[in-house]
Amino acid sequence: MNTVIIGAAKGLGLCLTEQLLNKGFHVAAGTISQTSGLLALKEKYGDSLLIFEADVTNEKQIEEGAKKCSEFLGKIDAACIVAGVLLEGDRTNLLHECDITELKKTLEINVAGPVTAVKYLFPYLKDGANVFLVTSEGIGISNCGTWVPCYALSKTAATKACGILNQSVQNVNFYAVHPGRMNTDMGRTTAQIEPEESAAGFCRLLSGETPVSRDCWYIDYKGNKMNY
Ligand SMILES: NC(=O)c1ccc[n+]([C@@H]2O[C@H](COP(=O)([O-])OP(=O)(O)OC[C@H]3O[C@@H](n4cnc5c(N)ncnc54)[C@H](OP(=O)(O)O)[C@@H]3O)[C@@H](O)[C@H]2O)c1
Repeated sequence: MNTVIIGAAKGLGLCLTEQLLNKGFHVAAGTISQTSGLLALKEKYGDSLLIFEADVTNEKQIEEGAKKCSEFLGKIDAACIVAGVLLEGDRTNLLHECDITELKKTLEINVAGPVTAVKYLFPYLKDGANVFLVTSEGIGISNCGTWVPCYALSKTAATKACGILNQSVQNVNFYAVHPGRMNTDMGRTTAQIEPEESAAGFCRLLSGETPVSRDCWYIDYKGNKMNY
């Protein structure tokens, strides 16, 4: 299978890249940073892995990155947009107190970022391809908490983007996926699972081992329906 991961530097993205390579898939891994973890995968898996520059806030770079993916992979079977941020002030501020610069940055990376990736990957996706946007839990409109408000706003919007995308096109399926509360730099304080467990679930989603249907497009990493 030909797969694309964007946000592969560390955490879930890095684990997923490794597990897909381990399954024998070809992976184009987009990243801001050439981390030691990614370079070690290149060393081990060689020609099965393309590492390309992909800052989701840099439209030109994403456009060029998408072309590199298609040159490396041909048509793409599945893509997963993992890139995301939870900025420090958002862990303590209420929304009415938030740092507006942090709010804008969060929306730029977590909402405009995946939409930019989808826009430029779209021409290179196979008919019937599956695209997974890593969003979160707690995105409901009526069931509002106050914790990490900028992040929650952004993940609600990114989840809705999948619904809109599914209404917009028939030949590609979009899924918003809650990855679980993972023990990563982002999730360490609330972790319930290791990123390897989540990545294994994503691997089964990307490979089709866990069947998914576009009628149920907001799911968790095991493929279970999430409520919104
Ligand atoms: N951890 C959790 O409990 C949890 C729960 C729900 C949802 N999620 C979501 O799961 C995804 C993965 O999170 P994680 O826990 O693995 O977090 P993480 O370890 O902090 O990793 C986040 C990844 O996003 C990349 N990234 C950040 N800004 C980017 C940009 N502008 N362009 C491209 N890549 C960018 C980071 O690269 P650099 O390090 O190079 O910046 C890093 O590889 C995120 O979308 C997150 O919101 C996580």
